[in-house]
Amino acid sequence: MYQQVEILENKEVTRDLYHLKLKGCYDIKAGQFFMLKKEQSNMTLFRPISIFDVDEEGIHFLYLVKGSGTKVLSQTKVGETLSIHGPYGNGFPILDTKACLIGGGIGMAPLYLCAKHNPDAKLYIGLREALYTEKEIQTIQSLFEGVNVHFKIGGTILDDVLWEEWETVLTCGPSKMMEAVSKQHDNTYVSLERHMGCGIGACLSCSCKTMLGMKKVCKDGPVFHQKEVVWE
Ligand SMILES: Cc1cc2nc3c(=O)[nH]c(=O)nc-3n(C[C@H](O)[C@H](O)[C@H](O)COP(=O)(O)OP(=O)(O)OC[C@H]3O[C@@H](n4cnc5c(N)ncnc54)[C@H](O)[C@@H]3O)c2cc1C
Ligand code: FES
Repeated sequence: MYQQVEILENKEVTRDLYHLKLKGCYDIKAGQFFMLKKEQSNMTLFRPISIFDVDEEGIHFLYLVKGSGTKVLSQTKVGETLSIHGPYGNGFPILDTKACLIGGGIGMAPLYLCAKHNPDAKLYIGLREALYTEKEIQTIQSLFEGVNVHFKIGGTILDDVLWEEWETVLTCGPSKMMEAVSKQHDNTYVSLERHMGCGIGACLSCSCKTMLGMKKVCKDGPVFHQKEVVWE
């Protein structure tokens, strides 16, 4: 459903990383995403952004400015509106086993809500040391208060995980990291990223090859069991 929603917050948390809050009441699942766009701007296509959190006032997103679309989003102000549609995607599976969640970089965004919903789960987040100052890292860490989280700055977050402790692993982040996680733990679910045109399964721009044939990341995913994924 397309709607125009009011921006309650759009704050630069650290360099190029923004915390956006949109007004409204949403029925969502962790791991799903919305398509976002600013009307009357140079954004022709909506951009997919994962749900970071939700509360009684609205929905939260954490996004990184990558190119022209996210630049436009970053320039929007509190009180203005964004055009959105969603939520889309299958979201993360229900966790009924001991689970760890592994996020790399902006891949941390969809895992926060999952960690909030599953207090027994542990969230591991890896950030590249060169990208942030110590103060910026502290600011990012403050966004994850209230969940069981471990940050690793620099190096590889995979080195910190005691794999045998966990029955299920959920991961989101750079493809190489998710592939490495999948090799460490057989029961891993990965949240894939692809360019998206429509978000609703109509344009095929997010098609990806899987062990079970071609799939659409927006509709069949973005979360897939690693056994299905063909790493390219
Ligand atoms: C399901 C899903 C959830 C996402 N959730 C988040 C989120 O929570 N926070 C966040 O910051 N970003 C998220 N992204 C990525 C975000 O959608 C892209 O960064 C954004 O669309 C880039 O748009 P742009 O116009 O700023 O950049 P563009 O000018 O379109 O691209 C800038 C650069 O980013 C690359 N790029 C663009 N889109 C993607 C993509 N989908 N996958 C890989 N590379 C891409 C381009 O190749 C180019 O090099 C998500 C993507 C998907 C598919
Ligand atoms: S984004 Fe159009 S089919 Fe997935």
